[in-house]
Amino acid sequence: MESCLPTSGEKYDGHFPFFRQPTKVGEFSLDEKRDFHHNNCQKKYISWPLKRPLDDGQSVDVHFDLNLLLDRAVRKDDSQLDERLDNLLKWILKNQEKFKLQDRKASFNSLSTDFVCYRGLITKLMATPYENREPWIICATKWRGTIYLCAFDTEQKIADRQRETPRQKAMSSWGYKFEQYMMSDSPGAAPDPHTPAVESAEFCCVLRSRLGRHSVVYGAEVDGVDPHREDSDGLSMAQFVELKTSREVETPRQRNSLQRFKMLKWWAQSFLVGIERVVVGFRDDDGTVHRLHAYATKQLPKEQVRNQHQAAAERTGSLVQEASGEKLFAQQLPKQQDFWSPSVCMNFAAAFLAWAAEQVTDDDPRAVWRFEFEPRRRRVTCQSLGRTERYRILPDWYTENVFR
Ligand code: A3P
Ligand code: MG
Ligand code: MG
Repeated sequence: MESCLPTSGEKYDGHFPFFRQPTKVGEFSLDEKRDFHHNNCQKKYISWPLKRPLDDGQSVDVHFDLNLLLDRAVRKDDSQLDERLDNLLKWILKNQEKFKLQDRKASFNSLSTDFVCYRGLITKLMATPYENREPWIICATKWRGTIYLCAFDTEQKIADRQRETPRQKAMSSWGYKFEQYMMSDSPGAAPDPHTPAVESAEFCCVLRSRLGRHSVVYGAEVDGVDPHREDSDGLSMAQFVELKTSREVETPRQRNSLQRFKMLKWWAQSFLVGIERVVVGFRDDDGTVHRLHAYATKQLPKEQVRNQHQAAAERTGSLVQEASGEKLFAQQLPKQQDFWSPSVCMNFAAAFLAWAAEQVTDDDPRAVWRFEFEPRRRRVTCQSLGRTERYRILPDWYTENVFR
């Protein structure tokens, strides 16, 4: 019988689950050709427009033209979109001693971790109880007691990418151009947006944590180090800042989209790796950023309540004003439900890991299980695919060289 996991939010309400503060255990870089480097050569530093960090909740006016040299940006090409876990596996191969248990007599034949994946996959899980549009596919392979999880593009996503309009392409490049305006290669150096942005290069941290009953090792692409918070051993994740772009809010609909979907993803992505600050470049529809705003990651879940009241006050206020010339204040509005809850997000992610661990029974490096999320049916289904190349996660070069 096919097994499934429900995704409705109300099933996952309750206490926040156990989540161990993630510790950074390593780093690697991918150059513009997506070649792996076992170092921090792609690490970038935040360059603050005021020459000092923005405080949490503070805004500053800027003028960044995100269309500058956009036609010459170095984009990821199609062959680089199907890297699966390869770069993370390369890092594991080079860092096997970090997985050996203290007891040196014990033979080394396991990573002693329950799951290996990328952070983006856990972010996807966390957003699932609130996702009503985008389906996802996650595949799993168990080998020597560790389950390797990897997200795959759905057929819909592959088709959407092929149909992408020039405008959509430009908009997905704006985020990288913004990063270029905000970061440089060394602390204190000025950014150089007058060169084409290299979208294919990245700097990744590898983290170790525990969610619910399961230990997880995950890779995460990170944006830049705040030079004012850089630590000497490079191990603190609080030194990193997450950069985002978003449409400046002018209508209740835009506010709704920011609060309901974007902030949830920003919070999940940053919280999972211990990044404490998200800096957002608010842009117009033509791709000019006019304002930066700093959010404390822990404040993001609270923004939704404050801004919902504000939005409702604006909405109702204007209606009442039209009708009677009176103004309705936010305090008079009924208490509203939050759009999303951090506990629901984390409880669902923990429940998925526990359920996946039950489903993936065979310990075989070639066998794959496929988990599919169907937003309309509000559930995840699981299917054993047996040995398949289409969704293969562990290459021979990994299984033949690890545990040596
Ligand atoms: P924005 O998120 O500011 O739009 P990240 O913020 O995760 O470091 O990603 C950097 C940028 O990569 C994004 O900036 C966006 O431009 C692009 N990007 C990331 N994920 C994407 C996706 N699923 N589709 C299109 N573009 C994406
Ligand atoms: Mg990034
Ligand atoms: Mg970013």
